[in-house]
Amino acid sequence: MVKKNACVFISGYGSNLKSLISNSRNHNFPVNISLVITNNFKAKGLLHAKKNSIPYFIINTKRRNFENKVLNLIKKYNISLICLAGYMKIISKGFISAYKKKIINVHPSLLPKYKGLNTYEKIIQNKEKKTGCTVHFVNEKLDSGKLIVQKSFFIKKDDKVDILKKKTQKLEHKAFSEAIIKIYRYN
Ligand code: GRF
Repeated sequence: MVKKNACVFISGYGSNLKSLISNSRNHNFPVNISLVITNNFKAKGLLHAKKNSIPYFIINTKRRNFENKVLNLIKKYNISLICLAGYMKIISKGFISAYKKKIINVHPSLLPKYKGLNTYEKIIQNKEKKTGCTVHFVNEKLDSGKLIVQKSFFIKKDDKVDILKKKTQKLEHKAFSEAIIKIYRYN
């Protein structure tokens, strides 16, 4: 199987990046993680790129043409799939229509519930009984593209934000790779 090249966008810790890199080592996995892009030079997740000798770029999103710079990199590395893994910037309409290929995102809720930020706090506030994560295609509207994979768990009475986060992220690490396998198996 000829693997496609994927790029992962991160802003922080990079636990999803870590699991994608690790799963991509399996020869049956449809993509290689060939490029990492961040808007945050302090992103801890860059360590995973460094450790695994994956090229990475820190983009200054305050620059006017930063998206063109990203598009050029994506072209240079022949990227077929962009994975947003905790990337805290909105991808513009212009970028989405210029890229044309697939962009996917992982979100810490059972979308369409709890789009946007502070999801864990909102879930606890609303006394939800169940939560989870969603991997979905990215379109022009925030957290609204077609769903690819969802995984859920029941919330315990004493679960606080940090516990919800831990449980959700554990599921995200599986769901992200499953979503990539699903995309390439069925599309
Ligand atoms: C993930 O939990 C994801 O749901 C959200 O940002 C978090 C990033 O975590 N979009 P990490 O950087 O992959 O550890």
